[in-house]
Amino acid sequence: MAFELTIRDVRVAPATVLAPMEGITDREFRMLIRGMGGVGLTVTEFISSDQLDKKVKRAWAMAELDPAEHPVSIQIYGREPEAMARAAAGCEELGADIVDLNFGCPSKRVTCGLSGSALMREPALARRMFAAVRAAISVPMTVKMRLGWDHDTLTAPEIARIAEGEGASLVAVHGRTRMQLYKGVADWRAVRAVKDAVSVPVLVNGDILTVDDAVRALAESGADGVMVGRGTMRDPWILRKIADHMAGRTPYEPPLDDRRACLLRYFDLLRDASRTDHIAIGRMKKVTGYFTRGLPYGDEVRQAIFHSHEIEPIYAAVDAYFERLAAEAIRDGFSQVHDLEIAPFEPGQRRR
Ligand SMILES: Cc1cc2nc3c(=O)[nH]c(=O)nc-3n(C[C@H](O)[C@H](O)[C@H](O)COP(=O)(O)O)c2cc1C
Repeated sequence: MAFELTIRDVRVAPATVLAPMEGITDREFRMLIRGMGGVGLTVTEFISSDQLDKKVKRAWAMAELDPAEHPVSIQIYGREPEAMARAAAGCEELGADIVDLNFGCPSKRVTCGLSGSALMREPALARRMFAAVRAAISVPMTVKMRLGWDHDTLTAPEIARIAEGEGASLVAVHGRTRMQLYKGVADWRAVRAVKDAVSVPVLVNGDILTVDDAVRALAESGADGVMVGRGTMRDPWILRKIADHMAGRTPYEPPLDDRRACLLRYFDLLRDASRTDHIAIGRMKKVTGYFTRGLPYGDEVRQAIFHSHEIEPIYAAVDAYFERLAAEAIRDGFSQVHDLEIAPFEPGQRRR
């Protein structure tokens, strides 16, 4: 059977989804990953429904899509059903193929506003929110959630059932509770309870870094597809590799030149998209930090670029880095990186 799914009438083929990541999955990053191939769906960073509702420019800028990135889902968060509904309608107008509701963010800034994962404890409010959003849009509505608030409150199956009852067309589940934040390991088996509770497609998410992880996560959860976040920063080809494997092909293993080209292409995208060089440099440093963590000589290239205040030396440092790897015939070590110490940002922390 082909590894694909449909979100009501939106075909996601292959069933590989780039997870929403605040501060990371902006339009440029989404286009970078999509360009690798093997990506069935991308999701924006979460966007505040209140800010969309109040017409805050920065929020609307975050919701801007590239004409070439379809299907794409815009994720919104908030607590007020009517504001969520109005924001969702705005996202549809902007061209979203899907509107996703955030029920997973553990950030205090979000949960103290009692949205994100805090909604996992409020089934009545969740129901009203699903109904209000559903009534406001004609594109599919989906929900991304955690397993529950804590191990005593594993409400994901209940909230998923409510979501389906109110017209949601897919549920994505990060196999951790809110209280776990990013600690411990994602429990893919626990996602099976959600799969058993609903008949809409389910995505399994959390700690998928390799093709083997994806295969195990699918087997343990029974989910219909995978959603990968941090793994794409370590290995931008991971979704393609998973898609290759699921289609019976040998997973693509990019040569060093492709890796270098990938990072430099991303730099070009950042340069074009950023208002000033200063902003572009900040974003280049951040992404190089992610892309090289745990890699051979990664520390050295990070040190070299973190002290740069201009763009050209950053390009030069990355070039020199890859030349060194090539000269020393280092070709692997990239896909085996297994630490995931990428902490999410608090909303609003990012500077562009
Ligand atoms: C930096 C960062 C930002 C995140 N921002 C969002 C977000 O905006 N919306 C959301 O639903 N989840 C967000 N997440 C959670 C991820 O989508 C995902 O559920 C989580 O990282 C586990 O998957 P992974 O192990 O594949 O990264 C974020 C995670 C990280 C690391």
